[in-house]
Amino acid sequence: MSAPDSRLREQEAQSAQRRATIAILDYGSQYTQLIARRVRESRVYCEIFPHDVTLDELRRRGVIGVILSGGPASVYDPGAPDIDPSILAGNIPVLGICYGMQLMSHVLGGEVGPEGKREYGPAMVDIADAGGLFEGLSQQERAWMSHGDTVKRLPPGFHAIARTERLPTAAMSDGRNRFAVQFHPEVAHTPRGAEILRNFLYRVCGATGDWTPAAFVEEAVVELRQRIGDRHAICALSGGVDSAVAATLVARAIGDRLTCVFVDTGLLRENEAEEVVATFGPRLRLHVVNAAESFLSKLAGIADPEQKRAIIGEEFVRRFEMVARMSGLVADGSDEKAYLVQGTIYPDVIESRSRDSKTSARIKTHHNVGGLPEVMSLEVVEPLRRLFKDEVRRVGAEIGIPEDILWRHPFPGPGLAVRVLGPVDRDSLDTLRKADAIFLEELRAADLYRTVAQAFAVLTPVRSVGVMGDFRTYGALVALRAVTTEDFMTADWARLPYDVLARASARIVNEVPAVNRVVYDVSSKPPATIEWE
Ligand code: XMP
Repeated sequence: MSAPDSRLREQEAQSAQRRATIAILDYGSQYTQLIARRVRESRVYCEIFPHDVTLDELRRRGVIGVILSGGPASVYDPGAPDIDPSILAGNIPVLGICYGMQLMSHVLGGEVGPEGKREYGPAMVDIADAGGLFEGLSQQERAWMSHGDTVKRLPPGFHAIARTERLPTAAMSDGRNRFAVQFHPEVAHTPRGAEILRNFLYRVCGATGDWTPAAFVEEAVVELRQRIGDRHAICALSGGVDSAVAATLVARAIGDRLTCVFVDTGLLRENEAEEVVATFGPRLRLHVVNAAESFLSKLAGIADPEQKRAIIGEEFVRRFEMVARMSGLVADGSDEKAYLVQGTIYPDVIESRSRDSKTSARIKTHHNVGGLPEVMSLEVVEPLRRLFKDEVRRVGAEIGIPEDILWRHPFPGPGLAVRVLGPVDRDSLDTLRKADAIFLEELRAADLYRTVAQAFAVLTPVRSVGVMGDFRTYGALVALRAVTTEDFMTADWARLPYDVLARASARIVNEVPAVNRVVYDVSSKPPATIEWE
């Protein structure tokens, strides 16, 4: 661990000590992040830890309760993920979910075994003990099951608190502060699961619901002031929600010792540069770099998507560096470092930790406007690294960022260059910008902009024959893409109403001269990706 890394961890530990924290131990369930989001939605702060974290570390981090996630393993598998047994000794409240329940049973002297057939899907749960975890619920509740093994014999001191037709022990408790459920309270298919989690957090762990956007802002501003002191910081503003919230928060802490840089690459959407300047110009010390000429000349004739991404990434760093040097923020040979503000959020932190531990194929080089520090002598500060996306939006609203910025769809760092397929030039960018603006306008008019996660137009190199009036046309093909997704790792194509597609298509063909045909992309991710390049 590098020195800044260890200092960051130390600071995180100190601030966590001040705040009651729930620890979620990760056993590899696809739902681990979902558990964390549910806990945060209950206004309780939580963090995801590797399953081999020790009780000492949890205590150091101010942990008031522990949730063990589900996971794909069986406790009898060789090398199955384990737990520091002192966490389960009864001194700290624990809730085991699915694999977490089996692990608790196994470690505490019960018996776990296969149930014969894997159970996957909805089940009716009969609640035998309506206190504690199930307070306020009906005697029968629907719940979502997904497991192979089950608890065959309860550990000493535990009793069953719920059953299903197939499972005599669908949930168990020691009557004090240790609980476990075989089903998944975190998923929407367990309709009253959020109440079960809230009962654990509030009744069992004694949480007080102090994790609010206002509390976060207050705490973050104090921490940023302590960390940055009287030094300076610089931030690349992209117009997206994360960098906007991060910059505004840092500006609240250090005022105009924060310099923001907005690079107009010429690859932005219609009116985007003007909107960013109008919104942030009055609030932040903002440098606008007009670099469209230089980006477009470097991209001329380049068709390969990875080469386009590399050119844009490098040019971006150059421009950013120039402002940093001009404003004296990176003086060569100075050991007084300035800070680089990045809009990294919690899913990026979790993902990069898990990416470090496994090898994965590179699908695309994602160039993030924040990914700059390797070439520069700057220390990174990431004020949003503990927040989920919905929390970033709530914090943004708290500090006065306008709604249309907060709800803006994500936009890739390389911008429209990866949406004009093949070589990029000014004309093709203009054509795409117009088509894209019409599509988004129609989505907004139909009140669908917020129901899709991302929507945009793509300009393809395909040309096709058409007829307009009495004339033959031979024009460009535009594809429209709209997706629904929770995390952008997988996505489905949005089932947009035909009449919305019809209006967008008719308007694009009528209003954008180069285009004579519009298609809708009906591919999910995987096997496609969201962007076309
Ligand atoms: P893909 O196309 O990989 O995209 O399914 C997933 C999400 O990431 C966005 N994306 C990028 N974001 N720099 C970014 O900051 C990039 O280079 C980049 N490429 C794709 C994409 O828009 C989608 O939201």
